Amino acid sequence: MSGRVPPGDFAGSSPVWLRQPEDVNALVPALWSRTACKDADGVLHVGGLSVADVVANVNTPAYLLDEDDFRSRARAFRDAFDGYDVYYAGKAFLSTAVARWVEEEGLCLDVCSDGELSVALRAGVDPGRIGYHGNNKTAMELRRAVHAGVGRIIVDSFVEIERIADVAAQLGVVQPVMVRVTAGVEAHTHEFIATAHEDQKFGLSISTGDAFEAARQVLAAPSLELRGLHSHIGSQIFDTSGWEVAARRVLALHARIAAELGHTLPELDLGGGFGIAYTTQDDPAEPAVLAEQITAIVTAECAALGLDVPHLSIEPGRAIVGPAMCTVYTVGTVKQVALDGGATRTYVSVDGGMSDNIRPALYDADYSCTLASRHSAAAPVLARVVGKHCESGDIVVKDEFLPGDVGPGDLLAVPATGAYGRSMASNYNHALRPPVVAVRDGQFRVIVRRETIDDLLATDLG
Ligand code: LLP
Repeated sequence: MSGRVPPGDFAGSSPVWLRQPEDVNALVPALWSRTACKDADGVLHVGGLSVADVVANVNTPAYLLDEDDFRSRARAFRDAFDGYDVYYAGKAFLSTAVARWVEEEGLCLDVCSDGELSVALRAGVDPGRIGYHGNNKTAMELRRAVHAGVGRIIVDSFVEIERIADVAAQLGVVQPVMVRVTAGVEAHTHEFIATAHEDQKFGLSISTGDAFEAARQVLAAPSLELRGLHSHIGSQIFDTSGWEVAARRVLALHARIAAELGHTLPELDLGGGFGIAYTTQDDPAEPAVLAEQITAIVTAECAALGLDVPHLSIEPGRAIVGPAMCTVYTVGTVKQVALDGGATRTYVSVDGGMSDNIRPALYDADYSCTLASRHSAAAPVLARVVGKHCESGDIVVKDEFLPGDVGPGDLLAVPATGAYGRSMASNYNHALRPPVVAVRDGQFRVIVRRETIDDLLATDLG
């Protein structure tokens, strides 16, 4: 039944990585959460539930979060990175339920705003297990963080050293901090999500000496305790060579601080950024492989520098929540659009778009999707799935083979939307942000409800 693409369709222009599937109804397991499967009627199930049944209750669009998958990925990082602290990066997606799962699975939590900190505290996360990031934390945010007793604040500028030192002195505490350094690594990822090259806003440069100077200033402040250095090289990275270069440069600084300032840093954080599969182009490594390689890199470098291996930590966000969620949409319209040269492109419009997933528009990110509500015997067509927003860059899935009879009322599901989907969602065109529905063992639970028109109007004071 893996029919051929009809002549005149857009097959000739499909991206080189996209292969027409043998069976257009089949899931590609590597892209989906672990409990995802299709039943004999072609209906997608996640967490032991038919997505058609779930959305009959919660409507579309909706994010479905596979709780077992999330927890097992969290555990996989915790177990693989044995002896490390694993901080889940809440910016990828955070809610009180998720913050509790993170804590129950033995992970720590990275937050980067007062909002994220508030969610974590509301969830009852032990503040001592929270790390606080940000390149421009306000005095108010720092006061709240220090007052709450966060386990570490990651310092990102000279002025912030003063601010934290003042707040901690006023509150009569000694605040543990780390210094975020830029190691000058060019991570092979989109420019907007690469963070350790020199010309960007994060961290203090190792090469200019700013990072060393920041460490010196922290050590000189009686209300601060310097725990270590922090390096995050970027996001959606597949190859450990970037961490290797970063670790080498960061550990060299570690050694310099020991030699010149007489202080052995007890900790080192290597950040997050572990890539996931959005489409068949991506082939991420298992946490165990990453752990083995990263530990070997750090151990070898420490040996070469004559350092004891510091207590290590990492901050994965995407690799834990990304594959655990999918987004379910309803198809509204299907159009054949004529292209130059006589080909046509099939445009499938769904009831969400760039307001629930900005990543295709912002990073040119690729996704995939599947017909989630039925089996189809129709031959595949190369389709573009688009949203309902008022701009042509409102793309959900740039290129995907879908059954040729896809039509209004069908459900489409997009895998791997858990990271930076709901967390970067907007109210563009006054869209109502969709709910996040946790599914597990045949039960569903709305953990973030859909916004309402009243929510939208609540901030409009007339
Ligand atoms: N640690 C720090 C200091 C970070 O800045 C980040 C991400 C992470 C950890 C987690 O990175 P992850 O493991 O999730 O890749 N909005 C972009 C990603 C921005 C990442 C920002 N920082 C995207 O949608 O791809």
